[in-house]
Amino acid sequence: MKILALAGSIRKDSLNKKLLAVACEVASAKGAEVKVVDFAAFEMPLYSGDIEDGKGIPEAAIKLKDLFNSVDGVIISTPEYNYSVSGVLKNAVDWMSRIKPQQPFKRKQMLLMSASPSMVGGNRGLWVLRMSLEALGAFVYPDMFSLAVAHEAFDANGGLKEVNHFNLVKTNVENFIDHIAK
Ligand code: FNR
Repeated sequence: MKILALAGSIRKDSLNKKLLAVACEVASAKGAEVKVVDFAAFEMPLYSGDIEDGKGIPEAAIKLKDLFNSVDGVIISTPEYNYSVSGVLKNAVDWMSRIKPQQPFKRKQMLLMSASPSMVGGNRGLWVLRMSLEALGAFVYPDMFSLAVAHEAFDANGGLKEVNHFNLVKTNVENFIDHIAK
């Protein structure tokens, strides 16, 4: 079982990167081979049809597509920006969706998570992201974990302070992996 994990934030101290790290630990403990990618290493210009016509799809989007195609499932943890998807993530989805003959979201198993200092944990943004991913043909796992008040949720080692939070992540990730296996 191969899992690709990425955070929809390129911020160094990203809460979503922390949540993703916990999810990755769970996936590894369950026997999955996990590859974490940092979006900061996949810089691409803002989508423009002129760039696409002139230079083609950016190399970073092609590399991400190859990574998507090399795994059985993808876990994304992403911030919610203004009730919606983070710009870096949406831009990458837009570029990757232009890849022909087959964009990499089609029939891809995906699990979505979010972390935010707010009381709803960025959950509304996941519903917006879901819509794009499902439109592209991804199988987005029905359960999504959103970590509220995330700026207070992690200890100094990056672990979740509340065992209840950890158990929710564990159940979500393990169920996702079992689902892919089936
Ligand atoms: C935010 N934030 C935010 N949070 C939220 O729960 N709902 C929202 O709609 C928004 N909107 C929003 C817009 C913009 C432009 C910024 C910069 C921030 C707060 C956001 O959740 C917080 O900054 C997180 O810490 C960002 O995620 P990372 O970088 O910590 O992973």
